[in-house]
Amino acid sequence: MEALSNLPLVSHPNLIAGMERAEDASVYKLTDEIAIIQTVDFFTPIVDDPYSFGQVAAANALSDVYAMGGRPLTAMNVVCFPIKSMDIAILKEVLAGGVAKVHEAGAIVVGGHSIEDPEIKYGLSVTGVIHPDRVVLNNGARPGDKLILTKPLGTGIISTALKAGAAGAGAEARIVKSMTELNGKAAELMQETGVDACTDVTGFGLLGHACEMLNGSQVGMAIDSAAVPCFPEAKEFALKGMLPGGLGCNREFRAGMVDIAAGVPDYLADILFDPQTSGGLLIAVPAEKAATLLERMHREGIEAAATIGEVVAEPACRIQVT
Ligand code: CO
Ligand code: CO
Repeated sequence: MEALSNLPLVSHPNLIAGMERAEDASVYKLTDEIAIIQTVDFFTPIVDDPYSFGQVAAANALSDVYAMGGRPLTAMNVVCFPIKSMDIAILKEVLAGGVAKVHEAGAIVVGGHSIEDPEIKYGLSVTGVIHPDRVVLNNGARPGDKLILTKPLGTGIISTALKAGAAGAGAEARIVKSMTELNGKAAELMQETGVDACTDVTGFGLLGHACEMLNGSQVGMAIDSAAVPCFPEAKEFALKGMLPGGLGCNREFRAGMVDIAAGVPDYLADILFDPQTSGGLLIAVPAEKAATLLERMHREGIEAAATIGEVVAEPACRIQVT
């Protein structure tokens, strides 16, 4: 869940994660054995094909449950649709894509709500469960932890190029495959391993979400830009200046927390701030477990997963990119 800074904070003895820290989802303890996870996300189409859009929206909404280490159970559709000007068959395709992806996650769609709107928007509210002692917060990283990222960056830049007619079918297929991929397997392996912190990389870009992991903590991060997985086309389009509007805002917003070394090319800094849709998990894992976790991810088909840096004691609350 993205935090809104002007909302009054709520505290409750059963609330494990609420609005205080820009967590991916809320977590509320029901019993000593079980906590409920809730999240909602919806947006305008990121790809042309309606079925693919439905799948991307669902994978993206489910991801915030996975980023807490949880397991999704049920989902509700959130739909805005221009019923007077658009063929209802398009909406049916979107919903079919969403349902298929939710089923793949082992969850079910149990309802929803739709309104008429000039622009189509789709997403889901997802409910999941987790053991209250197994919740993976975004700010538990400890010095020495390795940072693992599970999907390549560049979906925002490549989507921008697609809208401008500059990107080809190959690039589109690659980002759609990545954006429709569930973070469920990665979350499962992360839970089996035991990790210190996790979030998923979405609208604020890799460095924006990494900064959120550091907020209020006493640690910093060192990120090796050359080790960060990126779609090959992201470089080409970033060099041509095909950058999504949100990218510049992300970069500006976190400029004070991020030190980018002189040797890091500017296009690469852009990619590190590229807003992602249904991006990968960013995991802080104790160093002695990192190699095994990465190996298991690769074996399970999470091919792009890579170690991209580590958590450091000093300087606290800053990210050094080299
Ligand atoms: Co979210
Ligand atoms: Co998230």
